[in-house]
Parts: sequence; C-alpha cells; structure tokens
Amino acid sequence: MSLINIDNFNASDERRNSVDIDRGREYCRQLEQGKIFYFDHIPFNFPKEYLTFLLSRRQQNTRFHKNISFRPQTNLLRGFPASEKKDFARLQEIMQFYSGQVTKFLAAFLPPYAEKRLLDYASFRTIEENGRDLPLHKRNELLHVDAFPNRPTRGGRILRVFTNINPTKERVWQIGESFERLAEKYASDAGLNRIAVQSASTSGKIVRHTSRFLKKIGLPVADRSAYDHFMLRFHDYLKENTNYQKNGDKTRLEFPPNSTWLVFTDGVPHSVLSGQFALEQTFIIPFEALVSPEDSPARVLEKMCRKSLIAV
Ligand SMILES: [Fe+2]
Repeated sequence: MSLINIDNFNASDERRNSVDIDRGREYCRQLEQGKIFYFDHIPFNFPKEYLTFLLSRRQQNTRFHKNISFRPQTNLLRGFPASEKKDFARLQEIMQFYSGQVTKFLAAFLPPYAEKRLLDYASFRTIEENGRDLPLHKRNELLHVDAFPNRPTRGGRILRVFTNINPTKERVWQIGESFERLAEKYASDAGLNRIAVQSASTSGKIVRHTSRFLKKIGLPVADRSAYDHFMLRFHDYLKENTNYQKNGDKTRLEFPPNSTWLVFTDGVPHSVLSGQFALEQTFIIPFEALVSPEDSPARVLEKMCRKSLIAV
C-alpha cells in the first residue's frame, strides 16, 4: 500500500511534536521511494477563522479564473483580483501564515530536510476539479508526474503538502505505478535517449553557453539540465498517451475533509478526479539533500540511459 497513516502527530503550538532524526530519515526514505504520508487532520496550526475566510470564497467562484498562487518569499499573490483590496490583503496574510506553519511542520516531521529544503510556491485551489475545461497539458484528471517549466530542479525533488479544507467533500486522486516501472515502460518512447545524447553533445554545450550569456546580460533564463528537459517532456508525453491513461495501473485515493498528505509528485504518477478547496505548499529538496538518491527519478533515468543527466 502506498499510503502511510500517521496518527497523533501535530506540530501546532499547543501540541508540538517532533520526530527524532533516525525516524525522520526513515520517513524521508519512504517518501523518496514513492510512499504518501497521510494525516486524518491538519497537523499544524491553522485557525478556524482563516478556514472560514477561505471557504467564503465559495459564492465568488466566478471571479476566479485559475488556482490562486502565492510566493511566500516575495508575498506575491496571483489569481485573485487586486481591486478587492481588503480581501486581497487578508488572503495574502493567510497564505503567508499557512506557508510559515507548513514550513515549521515540515521541519518537525522531516528533520533531515529542515536545513536544506527550498521553499517554493503555495496554492489555494478553489475550483471544483471534476469537469474543469482545461487544455490537455494542464488537465489535472490525467495521470502525470510533475515538472515545472520555469523552475528547473537539476535532479532535486518536488515535495508537496496538501490539505483538503473542504468541510464536507473528499478530494479524489488516482495514483499510478512506481516511477521505476513507469520509466521502464515509457521513458524511451518519450525520448530519454535522444535528450540524454543531445545534452552531452556540442549542441548541448552551445545551449549552456548561450544561457550563461543571457544570464550575464540580465535576461531571465531557466537553466535546465537534461533531467529537467526530460521530465518536462515526460509530463506532456504521459498526458498525451491515451493508451497509458486508459490502461495504465491506477489506484483511487479519497482524502476526506481536513486531511493532509505529503508526496513527491515528481516520482508518484497522480491525477485529481474531483474535489474543491485545497491548500498546497511545495518544497524543492535539492539532490544533495536526498536521503536515498538512488531512488530519485534522476538516478533511475540515468541508470536506464547510462548517461549523466544532472551533471553541471
Ligand atoms: Fe501534478
């Protein structure tokens, strides 16, 4: 079973737990190997009035065009009308608080990552997932592994913490087989060897020189490793592959109201079938900080193509 149930863990101020370093390493290892950690409650401090405010967005759904995203480092909130000044500021404050609480929770639950994790974006998912009309590559109900076009990880991993804040409705996911099995079946067809060879060739060096030049003159550039190139392609390839979507292994998971779960979404194929109102915080765990690097998608893929995909 891919779900590991954690009872009685709470990092809130009133009931502050923390995991010892050995157990923390074991948890990190299990997560890196594709397990999902599940809590039937919110394991950090999140006041009721904040939940009430977030859920009051229900009546104003038509105003939202996408998920609300939040960048904790710069306090940047997107996807909510800035003209609604008072609510905008309140939402910013709540998202900042949420990010801080999840960060504290992560340090207490997974101490080996505490010093090294990079705080990425958070999101508030206000739209019912069932029946969303999105372009193919953005469709959430299709199984995929995550990769970010504008934030390459160079072998680092994407760890996400989700909380279903819907008071009455579960959030329904599907998960697929292990990354290793997925890669064995589909990575070649998705172009792994071509991408690995290209990056090792002269043209790859030219791309690297060009991106260094663009950076020098101050232009933003996503400094992607061959691994990042492949993972972006793999994300799209899986969503485009109707045979995989129809016949691939899948297990249905239902996350009830107020439950929280942690998962490396770059290694666990997943899709969202239904649910409304979820909070999510992303962390990047750099490759050097992994407890079990041999289980990482980067190493699994390197073993397959016998080429280095993340060397700088
Ligand atoms: Fe995803």
